[in-house]
Amino acid sequence: MSDFAATSEPNVPTGQEPAIELRDVCKRFGRQEVLRGVNLTVFEGRTLVIVGASGQGKSVIIKHMLGLVRPDRGTVRVFGQDLNRVGRRGLDDVRRHFGVLFQNAALFDSMNVFDNVALPLRERTRCSEAEIRSNVEEKLALMDLLGSEEKFPAQLSGGMRKRVGLARALVLKPKIVFFDEPTTGLDVSKSNEIYRLFHRTQQQLGYTAVIVSHDVPKIFKLADQVALLADGVIQECLTPEAFQLSDQPVVRAFVEETMGRLYRSDAEEEGLYEKV
Ligand SMILES: Nc1ncnc2c1ncn2[C@@H]1O[C@H](COP(=O)(O)OP(=O)(O)OP(=O)(O)O)[C@@H](O)[C@H]1O
Ligand SMILES: [Mg+2]
Repeated sequence: MSDFAATSEPNVPTGQEPAIELRDVCKRFGRQEVLRGVNLTVFEGRTLVIVGASGQGKSVIIKHMLGLVRPDRGTVRVFGQDLNRVGRRGLDDVRRHFGVLFQNAALFDSMNVFDNVALPLRERTRCSEAEIRSNVEEKLALMDLLGSEEKFPAQLSGGMRKRVGLARALVLKPKIVFFDEPTTGLDVSKSNEIYRLFHRTQQQLGYTAVIVSHDVPKIFKLADQVALLADGVIQECLTPEAFQLSDQPVVRAFVEETMGRLYRSDAEEEGLYEKV
């Protein structure tokens, strides 16, 4: 039980508003206790990266943020609204501001690239076909996909599929974007490309981002905060620099396992990061 207190808040500039707040979120599936009091704040316009071993509950956290899973205890607030209290329509209103890119990109196989990206506009807005066309083409251009509008998912490479997924996640100009392992199955250069695109579009559109990723340490370059989930709680939530040099034993073990001891001692020796 004392683990429940094992959390820390990042140093964030004052005046910054929380976009998402999880407070003491507990969740079990049957006899399996997955989340045991998760505390986490994502600030507007910032990028939170959630890391942790497989099966720890990272995707379950994202599902709580999306309102797809309800906590057994604790609260999930998005833009100050408690998702447990907003009701069906309220939840729909909140979700209107979300863009989501899951691991498999979840494209519709029977629709071509253009229609896949246009789908949220057709379902959720009353845009004219001309408006839809210009919006979709703008996103496809951003993702370097112009010329592929007529292709079907089966005719695309893995990297192209992710880019289509990213274009679709951004088409409604979301305020918060969720990426659950956006680069799984891609080679190094394709993953880098996805992260570059992510970075560029975030600068253009200014969205808040929550990313779950195993691409450590690469993903740290994009992060404002890195949160480690282990044993059902957020062990630390810190800037990437502070995270890599944390003395918290679980974080230290994670950093050494994913990045190696040498990296850490090199970084310390070279004074690359200030110790906090
Ligand atoms: N709907 C569900 N019903 C039952 N168990 C579930 C459900 N969703 C998740 N779990 C369990 O919760 C645990 C955490 O799952 P989750 O998918 O969040 O892990 P993860 O940290 O995202 O792992 P990975 O890095 O492999 O994606 C797993 O043991 C999983 O089996
Ligand atoms: Mg997962």
